[in-house]
Amino acid sequence: AGPASLVVVSNREPYSHERGADGETQVQFATGGLTSALDPVMRERGGTWVAWASGDADMAVADDGVVEVPPSDPAYRLKRLPLSDEAVEGYYYGYANQVLWPLCHEDTGRMWAEPSFWEQYRAVNEQFAAAVSEVADDGEPIWFQDYHLALAPRRVRDRRPDATLHHFWHIPWPAPSVFRHCPHGTAILDGLLACDVIGFHTLAYAERFLGCVDDVLPDASVETGDGVVRYDDETRVVANPLGIDADAVRARARAADTTAVRRSVLGDSRSDPSIRLALGVERLDYSKGIPERIEALAHLWERRAALRGTFTYVQKASRTREGIAAYRRYRRDVLDAVERVNDRFGTADWQPVVYTEANLSGESLAGLYRAADVAVVTPHRDGMNLVAHEYPAACVDGGGALVLSDLAGAASHLDGALTVNPHDIGGIADVIERALELDAPERAERLRSLRESVERLDSRHWVARQFGAGK
Ligand code: G6P
Repeated sequence: AGPASLVVVSNREPYSHERGADGETQVQFATGGLTSALDPVMRERGGTWVAWASGDADMAVADDGVVEVPPSDPAYRLKRLPLSDEAVEGYYYGYANQVLWPLCHEDTGRMWAEPSFWEQYRAVNEQFAAAVSEVADDGEPIWFQDYHLALAPRRVRDRRPDATLHHFWHIPWPAPSVFRHCPHGTAILDGLLACDVIGFHTLAYAERFLGCVDDVLPDASVETGDGVVRYDDETRVVANPLGIDADAVRARARAADTTAVRRSVLGDSRSDPSIRLALGVERLDYSKGIPERIEALAHLWERRAALRGTFTYVQKASRTREGIAAYRRYRRDVLDAVERVNDRFGTADWQPVVYTEANLSGESLAGLYRAADVAVVTPHRDGMNLVAHEYPAACVDGGGALVLSDLAGAASHLDGALTVNPHDIGGIADVIERALELDAPERAERLRSLRESVERLDSRHWVARQFGAGK
């Protein structure tokens, strides 16, 4: 169900054109849950995706910014918007990632709101709104994505009063007591409420959003039970968990050569098949809980010497948002933690933690998931976390256990996971140990339950539910 063609609007573009060291242009697929979830949706439906031209060769490929993607097998149009350096600094590194990101992850101590951040956030939202109003056909729904674009819906509504506007907020929504830290809370809510439908991953986020509207906008009336806000018009607020294209992940995992993937990640001399694998896959974001996890592993190998040499933890990491000092520091902290553990426990033929920033293909990543006995996903907070969905989908051999933070959105529906408090280092160690030692029937039952949820709540379900709510 859902509309045939769509206009999707997000900050991050799915495909960027980058100039390689040899001067050749290469196409890169973005990292992060949003692009990997929406690309299959757009491939199926067609339409236009409007996003920031973040690749350094993007505008050289087509000077109107329009390209058909995926480049190898075109299925939809990508309209790229070039942003000035000043705009990127204030809107992306500034307001989006130093105000709204920490605010929504309830990490207000990291918030930093310079006046230019808000100015640029407004200006870029206006720029997006103008472009969107131009490309959207009459009757074609417009679907804004995430915290970068809270003001654009209102600006589009001003131009196109009859348009169908949707928004999906991919990160957590904070409690009203935390949202009060937002220096522009009224404007953010006013911008979003120009939409017909706003989606959140979980009921808790949707309810907190309604609580904030009630708290901040005296003119709005909120019907909490039905999730309806009456402000200038009516907005439906829905809980709608983002999902993955489970069939595609499963097919990639089946096609992968797990022996080759193990060898390339662990290195030839250390890819002994008897060594089990635990795996973490994330952007180097301070919300992800990576240092605690590595400390937990140290604790485990310290306490249970018998586990040394029996399993290796692979950390697949992607560099991210390095224009912000907190992200650069975080990467250094993670690298230091890895080095400390390896110095302390490593031997000639066993490296406790293997850290890689390699850019893996979809198939290699699925192969790595498939080869892993345990996946460890322990963010302090996470809107949803799609690694927690991709991993069970890729466990096509029937093994595999998921350790999951109870503060990730995914924990609200993945009953088969072993959940843990992401700050409890001793607790994480215990749960990793338990995951490694689960007996076969319990492991199989948990995996069956995980796969059932992931397949039921896939990306088609997500789109259908979002647009079903608009009727
Ligand atoms: C999260 C956000 C996305 C974002 C992604 C990657 O998943 O919800 O909006 O695209 O992180 O971050 P980046 O800043 O590189 O786009």
